[in-house]
Amino acid sequence: MQLYSFLTLSTLAGSAVAQSGVDLDKPMLAGGGRRGPGAMLRFGCSQVVIERLDPLVNPDLKPSTHTHQVVGGNTFNESMPYTDIAKLSSCTTCHFLEDSSNYWTANIYFRARNGSYKRVPQIANQFNAGDSGGITLYYTSPNANVTTAFKPGFRMLTGDAMRRTSENLGKNMQQCYRCFTQPDFGGSMYSPCLDPKYDTDHLPQQPCAGGIRSNIIFPLCWDGKNLDSPNHRDHVAHPIGGPTQFALVNGTCPSTHPVKIPQLMFEVMWDTTSFNNKEDWPEDGSQPFVLSTGDTTGFGQHGDYVFGWKDNSLQRAMDEGCYLRNCTLLTEQAPKIKNQCNVPVTVDEDVNGWMSQLPGGGNGN
Ligand SMILES: *[C@@H]1O[C@H](CO)[C@@H](O)[C@H](O)[C@H]1NC(C)=O
Ligand SMILES: *[C@@H]1O[C@H](CO)[C@@H](O)[C@H](O)[C@H]1NC(C)=O
Ligand SMILES: *[C@@H]1O[C@H](CO)[C@@H](O)[C@H](O)[C@H]1NC(C)=O
Ligand SMILES: *[C@@H]1O[C@H](CO)[C@@H](O)[C@H](O)[C@H]1NC(C)=O
Ligand SMILES: *[C@@H]1O[C@H](CO)[C@@H](O)[C@H](O)[C@H]1NC(C)=O
Repeated sequence: MQLYSFLTLSTLAGSAVAQSGVDLDKPMLAGGGRRGPGAMLRFGCSQVVIERLDPLVNPDLKPSTHTHQVVGGNTFNESMPYTDIAKLSSCTTCHFLEDSSNYWTANIYFRARNGSYKRVPQIANQFNAGDSGGITLYYTSPNANVTTAFKPGFRMLTGDAMRRTSENLGKNMQQCYRCFTQPDFGGSMYSPCLDPKYDTDHLPQQPCAGGIRSNIIFPLCWDGKNLDSPNHRDHVAHPIGGPTQFALVNGTCPSTHPVKIPQLMFEVMWDTTSFNNKEDWPEDGSQPFVLSTGDTTGFGQHGDYVFGWKDNSLQRAMDEGCYLRNCTLLTEQAPKIKNQCNVPVTVDEDVNGWMSQLPGGGNGN
């Protein structure tokens, strides 16, 4: 079973059991997974900007094709240098001051019956009270000295904005939506993308009384040489045998991509609750949410990452078994401090009001 509860995990995080590194994640990964002093950081990064920029796929294109919600350091820009952005950033919206990475995803919009669009607000995730929307990040490593942290300048993209059908990558979903059936993240206690009933790789077809959560999991293997590749994907790969599930950083990396990297996962909470009135939904009964790309299926969900941890702080956090937000070698920021960090909007357009079309037109990519 893959049942777990972060309440249990949080309790364990402070206990002697956690420090021994033995039973740390039993409730979460009973039946397999991390053993010994594994690490799992889980922390929130508040929104730093929402606008039409995409320095990976559309560098220097202003505006880019669709809106993104971006979190992390304030060096985010229409293009990103391959130098060490941790040194260029003067603030970050991430819980840990050492993390000036940038993380971004497409936004979700509500499409009303009358054809108008409204951006779905993001809210603070479970256990991240005080965050201003944004993304929760997970970095998982099964043991000390097993994964190699990313290098300055490293970036990658996962998912495919053009996909409109279920990807054929095996049984472990690498991106999914959780339909919370009760308020306060209620209705499911499965690990991300493992609930057979409430996790789907398409947008939920029914109203979700507690909102919708997105999860996006990145590959585990790196070629060890390239900080990037033309499609921002080919320098990383899944293990032989296919993608693993959340927090299972197992499997052998292929010889072309021999270096195991920490498993990165994004988690985003979308507050769809003010759009749950079926009177406003399409008359044909279809669900009303759409990615900022124009994708009404949700299969095209994707995540972008530019590494920006200070010095070797991420490597140390992985090797020293940091757990959730408990990591004495990292510096915590209060929400009211990190929420003040932002990047000025440079694309002059409305992305928030009721709109007759999606910013950029929602042309599919
Ligand atoms: C964090 O972990 C350290 C080292 O394992 C431990 O001493 C400390 O009590 C933990 N703190 C919390 C808040 O869990
Ligand atoms: C953002 O990128 C543009 C184009 O590359 C550059 O002209 C500008 O100086 C950058 N802004 C910052 C704050 O680095
Ligand atoms: C479209 O419907 C929404 C939701 O009912 C409403 O708030 C909005 O004002 C409507 N827009 C127009 C242009 O009628
Ligand atoms: C990890 O590597 C460091 C440095 O080589 C070493 O001190 C430490 O004992 C290693 N930890 C484990 C669990 O292998
Ligand atoms: C990872 O471990 C799980 C649980 O033990 C197992 O089911 C799965 O096949 C493993 N995956 C790979 C790629 O080895």
